Amino acid sequence: MVTLWETGVGADESVCGRGGEALVGSMFKATSVKDALRASGPASEIRVNGWVRTRRDSKAFSFIELNDGSCLKNLQVIADATLPGYAELMPQITTGAALAVKGELVESKGKGQSWEVKATELTVVGQSDATYPLQKKGHSMEFLREISHLRPRANLFGAVFRVRSRLAYAVHQFYQERGFIYVHTPLITASDCEGAGELFRVSTLDPLNPPRNEEGGVDYRQDFFARPTYLTVSGQLEAEVFACAMGNVYTFGPTFRAENSNTSRHASEFWMIEPEMAFTDLKGNMDLAEDFVKYLIADVREHCADDLEIFGKFVDKGLLERLDFVAQRPFQRVSYTEAMEILQASGKTWEHPVKWGDNLQSEHERFLAEEHFKCPVTVYNYPKEIKPFYMRLNDDGKTVTAMDVLVPGIGEIVGGSQREERLDVLEANMDRHGLSKADYGWYLDLRRYGSVPHAGFGLGFERMLMFVTGMANIRDVIPFARTPGSAEF
Ligand code: 4AD
Ligand code: MG
Repeated sequence: MVTLWETGVGADESVCGRGGEALVGSMFKATSVKDALRASGPASEIRVNGWVRTRRDSKAFSFIELNDGSCLKNLQVIADATLPGYAELMPQITTGAALAVKGELVESKGKGQSWEVKATELTVVGQSDATYPLQKKGHSMEFLREISHLRPRANLFGAVFRVRSRLAYAVHQFYQERGFIYVHTPLITASDCEGAGELFRVSTLDPLNPPRNEEGGVDYRQDFFARPTYLTVSGQLEAEVFACAMGNVYTFGPTFRAENSNTSRHASEFWMIEPEMAFTDLKGNMDLAEDFVKYLIADVREHCADDLEIFGKFVDKGLLERLDFVAQRPFQRVSYTEAMEILQASGKTWEHPVKWGDNLQSEHERFLAEEHFKCPVTVYNYPKEIKPFYMRLNDDGKTVTAMDVLVPGIGEIVGGSQREERLDVLEANMDRHGLSKADYGWYLDLRRYGSVPHAGFGLGFERMLMFVTGMANIRDVIPFARTPGSAEF
């Protein structure tokens, strides 16, 4: 009935190329609310579509606030009581109803908006009644999560998902501008890249009656892929293949972790950006991670100003100041050993004791970024025992060239390393981690033929989104969150 895909006042009909009235979507031209609000002049005829946020009646007019998700602001539509069918229409124009509006774009006399629409024709495309859950403002985040199918219509979530879209675009822009090749790595894999055993199995075997092997276990040779397979936890190993052929590459896709940690920063399905660079060492890797994080902040700051304002107002008062601070100042860099010394000297009592050789816990990461350095900090050279097999062993024989970027409010946002490019050392690492060299023959080949120093990292897309919006829970920056015990929608 109405086009949702065409924007711009007065766009040429031939652009649509859908001619003929039989096609739904070919009859009207619609302008987005965003475009209407930034029009350069009045328009004698405009069509807008959207959902009613509120309606207010006076004697001679009704004021309708219309939102179509294209921007935070609503478009005010004025319906004169003399409009044909006014009396029957108004009771249907309720919060949540879908509306098609035809009218005149005129300068607004009201505060806070430059343009409004004087309606000449109103069509209620889809009604909504008093049971519509988003009647009032001030719902809790928990409640809004339960209605994830409606929450994109709430101002805050419209803003989150517009920023998410822009951030994804900025990711590609950053790498494409720098000549990185985008690689689609597989989602179904036989390898556990991170070695943490947090894998979701992919299988078509009958769980009630699986075929058995000689030892009485499940015989995965009879499974769909003739071997055990899983959803990937990382595209890194395959990205390395392409880096060792094309130089600088990146992946950007969903990853899956069956880690049973119910925190505000862990999701079971999340998106990750993984650049991988040949002829690059740890230092080059740290430089890229820092440039990347700063670039994303600056891009969102520039292109999502209105949306960021709502986060600054309602979610995190210090947000904008912090983003500018982070975008403009160099990150701190400390080795894991130095970080341990700082934590030990802090005089704090920790829930998890600080001991060389142990992983940094969230409380330690946040102390470093929030209290000690008060800015993002890149920690590098971690003990080899707590890191995956592929990280390059340092000359001290005890640490590997790992690097994590920690940011205030969140902790780890980036994890990466220089990769072990020496065949013999890599094989020894794999033995130590109990990995089968036969299964990873293809990965070892990269070290057999034209091996080069190479490095890369993974940036958690949702964690970055939490950082730029100030949203406190990862469930609120993913359209439909998957977390332990929860996979609705
Ligand atoms: O540190 P991680 O596990 O590193 C890797 O997967 C490497 N293979 C990356 C590479 O070198 N190419 O994960 C990278 C980032 C983390 O720093 C974090 O931001 C995010 O992914 N992340 C998660 N985000 C949401 N939910 C989870 N469960 C996450 N686990 C990791
Ligand atoms: Mg990590």
